Amino acid sequence: AQIVAFRDSHQAGIATPSQDRLCFATFDVTPGTTKDDLAELLKTWTAAAEAMALGKQVPGDAGDLNTPPDDTGEAVGLAPGNLTITIGYGPSLFDGRFGLAGRRPSALKVLPHLPKDNLDPDNSGGDLCVQACADDPQVAFHAVRNLRRLAFGTLVPRWMELGFGRTSSTTPQQATPRNLMGFKDGTRNIDGTDAALMGQHVWIGEEEPQRWARGGSYLVSRKIQMRLEQWDRDRLGDQQDVFGRFKSTGAPLTGKTEFDAPDFHAKSGGEYVIPTGAHIRLAAHENNNGLRILRRGYSYTDGIDPETGDLLGGLFFIAFMKSPDQFVTLQRILGRHDLLNEYIQHIGSGVFVTPPGLAAGQDWSGQLFG
Ligand code: HEM
Repeated sequence: AQIVAFRDSHQAGIATPSQDRLCFATFDVTPGTTKDDLAELLKTWTAAAEAMALGKQVPGDAGDLNTPPDDTGEAVGLAPGNLTITIGYGPSLFDGRFGLAGRRPSALKVLPHLPKDNLDPDNSGGDLCVQACADDPQVAFHAVRNLRRLAFGTLVPRWMELGFGRTSSTTPQQATPRNLMGFKDGTRNIDGTDAALMGQHVWIGEEEPQRWARGGSYLVSRKIQMRLEQWDRDRLGDQQDVFGRFKSTGAPLTGKTEFDAPDFHAKSGGEYVIPTGAHIRLAAHENNNGLRILRRGYSYTDGIDPETGDLLGGLFFIAFMKSPDQFVTLQRILGRHDLLNEYIQHIGSGVFVTPPGLAAGQDWSGQLFG
């Protein structure tokens, strides 16, 4: 119980049910690190990640009084909490330093500048990323901390984000959670158990010449700050127009219950009931040639803005897709026309290829280097 399989055809943490908490970190490889050093680390990481996903401690010489403990210890006695550890590789990892230029998945490149981007380099990019999700925040943090510890000298952390509260359901069995704007989020997300939709929109398939990446996916992360103080002063009618949904039930403005299909043609008094700039109108697959992504984000907070005293927080957006172009296409539209833009700002960004799952006996090193 509370254990998600570590080895499967796809990595855990994508289609598997989203847990309550997130710890997400990216890393850069330190100068002077060789291909062999990196290959060795990825082997060590695989063993550690697999042990932690089973609710065990990081393997090593337990009890040796003359060396630091192999596991930092703060998860001892805690339930595994459905921990998933998902690894991803950024475009910069394939730049030639480690002989990986010939193994770069074809769609892996830094995202172009997108409308209204205000990205902080300290919250963007990275050679590698680790997404740890669990129902207990300490279990998620413990996973990232131990991978970081095993990487001393090889990797340096670049940025890290803690997420409390999932903002998406990835299976219909989960109740739809609410984001920090108080709206149900994930109602029309892709269902992770729907193999046909996942194959069509999320998993890298035969179109990819790099066979090793097939069955993987692309992870796009966006740190999206919300202007919470402004939002909290906006009237309810406007808040509902921004999304095109009722705040209480999550139903579309043209429907009665949460899962009613939105009617984008319905008008009242000559105006569209779901406004032309409403988030769900602009993001809907019906209005984007069938384009869909799997959203798996979390709410975050950074405390208080020292200059204004405002609460700092928002959505740490994570989405998985067959190609980052899906995100770029959507964000080009949303960044220009979304009514939500009055209340949000994108301040961090990352793009990573998440390799497929590991077969028995395989590790992340052999999978990446071939
Ligand atoms: C739908 C919130 C940013 C893509 C929704 C819904 C909410 C929401 C409440 C309706 C419920 C649902 O179907 O899940 C937010 C907030 C954002 C944000 C608060 C920023 C802080 C984004 C971004 C993208 C995106 C950056 C992609 C570029 C979508 C998609 C849907 C959706 C594809 C489903 C639309 C549909 O088919 O009806 N979002 N979202 N969202 N959002 Fe966002």
